[in-house]
Amino acid sequence: MTFCCFAILNCRKGNSSLQEPAEGIAVTNNVRIFSYNSLRSATRNFHPSSRIGAGGYGVVYKGVLRDGTNVAIKSLSAESTQGTREFLTEINMISNIRHQNLVQLIGCCIEGTHRILVYEYLENNSLASTLLETIISGTMSKHVDLDWPKRAKICLGTALGLAFLHEEAEPSVVHRDIKASNILLDRNFDPKIGDFGLAKLFPDNVTHVSTRVAGTVGYLAPEYALLGQLTKKADVYSFGVLMLEVISGSSSSKTAFGEELSILVEWTWKLKQEGRLVELIDPELIDYPNAEVMRFITVALFCTQAAANQRPSMKQVVEMLSKEVHLNEKLLTEPGIYKGHKTSKLNGAGTSSEGTFSRGDRGKKAIKSTISSPQFNSSNSLTQMLPR
Ligand SMILES: Nc1ncnc2c1ncn2[C@@H]1O[C@H](COP(=O)(O)OP(=O)(O)OP(=O)(O)O)[C@@H](O)[C@H]1O
Ligand SMILES: [Mg+2]
Repeated sequence: MTFCCFAILNCRKGNSSLQEPAEGIAVTNNVRIFSYNSLRSATRNFHPSSRIGAGGYGVVYKGVLRDGTNVAIKSLSAESTQGTREFLTEINMISNIRHQNLVQLIGCCIEGTHRILVYEYLENNSLASTLLETIISGTMSKHVDLDWPKRAKICLGTALGLAFLHEEAEPSVVHRDIKASNILLDRNFDPKIGDFGLAKLFPDNVTHVSTRVAGTVGYLAPEYALLGQLTKKADVYSFGVLMLEVISGSSSSKTAFGEELSILVEWTWKLKQEGRLVELIDPELIDYPNAEVMRFITVALFCTQAAANQRPSMKQVVEMLSKEVHLNEKLLTEPGIYKGHKTSKLNGAGTSSEGTFSRGDRGKKAIKSTISSPQFNSSNSLTQMLPR
């Protein structure tokens, strides 16, 4: 990691005659520093019509830079009050992580209390708004038809991006918040993972892992939700849930599957036990290769196993998804099921404070939660799951 960006900032402070490019940008080795004014004009003064969403970190606007480039501008909420140096260290780290399946951070703005991130803009918005009927910014999002080839590449591309974060990025990154709204889709519906590396920009007591579900916490690995054990395998679990959403076209935040009002992972396991897995597949998917879809479901089940050490690595997941491998289902064990508060909301699309918590209060949640992890202490070795 290089720190020449600090030199440039210091230089700006000390020497107001430093020449800036026309758009008010100082360019560092790989992070562009935008002036607040330039972002204000890119978003027409942060006009509500430029707003494309809001999440746990703040509000996101669509902006157009002077050269015509579309960008997503994420204005971080006030809690991110890190000093300039610490903030830039993290920003520099994030922008060094580049992969075709990761949303590229273009630059940032640090002026006064403003902390703003500028990302490449993805035309097809998030998987949540494209595939799942989700309430985003108060309105039900548009449902776009995704055929199987598109869904398959969304799964594989996301797996590639996550495998890169886990195994090739330097330093390696546990995402912590893999979910449909953090998978952005470009104009060809190729997926890019957003919001990686952001957790460090916020102090520990600030809510940043927002599960954003009403009723059931859909993506959290039980050992992470209940015990705070954050490993790459927690991401693998979330990725498995995401795959089930892609295949079923249903949100994991629903608790409406079957007569027992199960959550998606539970429901999938039940269907598997009863030999009815075909019922999981999105009825809107008419033409699909049955064997491949079944393999994808099996991979998702391997990922969501209760015992974290039984779950494959993301590299193994990539292998399992990209090749016609035979998966040894005898090694498959029950999924881990974490349920947060019960609420009356069944659709679970909106933001719910009940499903949102910081690391600090996770222990309290555990008392009110239920966990199903019969294989939690299983000692089977991970390598046994390798595709044959
Ligand atoms: N680079 C981008 N290009 C296009 N749209 C984006 C981009 N980044 C975010 N968005 C959209 O902005 C909205 C808000 O994103 P944001 O990341 O703030 O919230 P979230 O993903 O719903 O929750 P969280 O804060 O937990 O990540 C999402 O609906 C997403 O589709
Ligand atoms: Mg997000």
